[in-house]
Amino acid sequence: MNVGIIGYGNMGSSFARGLKEKASRIVVFDITEEKLKKALEDGFGVAKDLYFLVKESQWILLAVKPKDAKSVLENLKEVFEDRLLISIVAGLSIGTMESYLGKKKIIRAMPNLNVAVQKGVIAYTCNSEVSQEEKEDVVKVFSSCGSLYEIGEELMNAFTAMAGSGPAFVFKFLSALIMAGIREGFSYETSRGIAIDTVLGSCELLKRWGGHPEEWITKVASPGGTTVEGIKVLENRGFSGIVIECIEKTREKAEKLC
Ligand SMILES: NC(=O)c1ccc[n+]([C@@H]2O[C@H](COP(=O)([O-])OP(=O)(O)OC[C@H]3O[C@@H](n4cnc5c(N)ncnc54)[C@H](OP(=O)(O)O)[C@@H]3O)[C@@H](O)[C@H]2O)c1
Repeated sequence: MNVGIIGYGNMGSSFARGLKEKASRIVVFDITEEKLKKALEDGFGVAKDLYFLVKESQWILLAVKPKDAKSVLENLKEVFEDRLLISIVAGLSIGTMESYLGKKKIIRAMPNLNVAVQKGVIAYTCNSEVSQEEKEDVVKVFSSCGSLYEIGEELMNAFTAMAGSGPAFVFKFLSALIMAGIREGFSYETSRGIAIDTVLGSCELLKRWGGHPEEWITKVASPGGTTVEGIKVLENRGFSGIVIECIEKTREKAEKLC
């Protein structure tokens, strides 16, 4: 499958790297010369304009900032034909894209930062023009960039709060854990390593062996032991409530920006 990427910024370049093994050919278009140069150095084809990119590609990944998306869509309209558009532009609804392109094959996707290391979480929703087979092909190819979840478009803002902003919340927890380690007497480097590996290992265990996190808490926290003392502090200070409210407020802000 030939994939054309419009916008070779943080996300466009991360996707290009992730898709390298799976796509037959990747062609990039960006308005900035130095980004095109970078794409060439990274081993991708570059297009001299949007029309060339569209002609060379069956799937088009739209990865420009929301403020630039509408003018790109206007220019795509004439040449798009039966190609498939995959947009990762935040807040750009399928309805809005259809109003620019007409009833074309459109997938609205929302990735997170972790696509940069091919461990992204990507939510997507398809319009009625995308067939089951095309959807499966897209999932197969894009799974090289992370894990994909098909969701209703009405849940896009909730996904943005959980997984889009999610890395920032995880980093906040990690930062606190590292600080706690330093306070207990570890060097920054040691504390950082311990904190990252504890979070990574716990996630790996949960993913591989399944079960609810609360079940695993009971395996760590023995009756009358040490862990339960720490859990009591988290519960007293309303840890779960804080996280739930954090996601709710983030989702509400995402809704206001749409
Ligand atoms: N970054 C994230 O974590 C994240 C997460 C989820 C979704 N997204 C979405 O991903 C999209 C891209 O974000 P990003 O962080 O990768 O942005 P970015 O780094 O600014 O990359 C966008 C690139 O597109 C170029 N561009 C602007 N107008 C163009 C046009 N008409 N044709 C071709 N290229 C054009 C920009 O050039 P100039 O710099 O010269 O303008 C820039 O190189 C956004 O819509 C954002 O909502 C981002």
